[in-house]
Amino acid sequence: MSDQPVVLIAEELSPATLEELGPDFDVRHCDGADRASLLPALAEADALLVRSATAVDAEALAAAPRLKVVARAGVGLDNVDVRAATQSGVMVVNAPTSNIVSAAELAVALMLAAARHVSPAHAALRQGEWQRSRFTGTELFDKTVGIVGLGRIGVLVAHRLAAFGMRVIAYDPYVQAGRAAQLGVRLVDLATLLAESDFMSVHLPKTPETIGLIGDAELHAVRPHLVLVNAARGGIVDEQALYAALKEGRVGAAGLDVFAHEPCTDSPLFELDNVVATPHLGASTDEAQEKAGLAVARSVRLALSGELVPDA
Ligand code: MLT
Repeated sequence: MSDQPVVLIAEELSPATLEELGPDFDVRHCDGADRASLLPALAEADALLVRSATAVDAEALAAAPRLKVVARAGVGLDNVDVRAATQSGVMVVNAPTSNIVSAAELAVALMLAAARHVSPAHAALRQGEWQRSRFTGTELFDKTVGIVGLGRIGVLVAHRLAAFGMRVIAYDPYVQAGRAAQLGVRLVDLATLLAESDFMSVHLPKTPETIGLIGDAELHAVRPHLVLVNAARGGIVDEQALYAALKEGRVGAAGLDVFAHEPCTDSPLFELDNVVATPHLGASTDEAQEKAGLAVARSVRLALSGELVPDA
């Protein structure tokens, strides 16, 4: 057994993470998505560093008797059982602002790609087809975008889309209308957002309240040309309901970065030309990974030396 506290890194993190941790720890690696790799490695871990692919649930926590801190190199904590961790006396930290710009930029990228058929046009060109009229798209300018969830990422998306000349409305029961107005956003209820949006982008955490929030009934209430983007969490938009709506022409197109079950390589949605999809890349930029790695490495150092970990 090592004399140094063991820091277990369960997913790929930026090189800056290791530099920031410094020489005082016994840094070990495992594959957090593989329970056979994760559970035995947890036996000696004092700290666990993860992204979104590692389920830090009651079973994982029970396998980690020495664990003092779980650090999530990113925003969402839906893969960490925070209640079970707290009950076991394990601190949970994240990096809540590390990747917000990256996530916002990917949402905008998916919106533009879906509106302009970038993905099927690229695929057709690679097949040697020079087709222009088939891929006639839609401008964002002078359209209404509905932001579902006006938190840190939702606000960044709203600002960026306002710069495209869009009217921005938002649904967020936790935000005051005055605050939204300051941001140049009209706060509406969900029914109004569904009825008025030409484009829609989801920016909510995954919680029991948000799972299935955009389901069959909601997708019957939208405009048929709607371009729907979800770069937040899979499951907030019901995938079966979305597939049916796209197939039946009740939704125009979708840009998806997240899925109810990940990794997801086999979805009927991937067969549709009006879907552009990426494999949960919202936080996957050099900048976001560096910021997330630095933030969690600092928090882990403080936590393991018994110091106060400030809010990030
Ligand atoms: C997040 O919640 O910040 C992202 O999902 C991070 C990630 O991609 O691991």
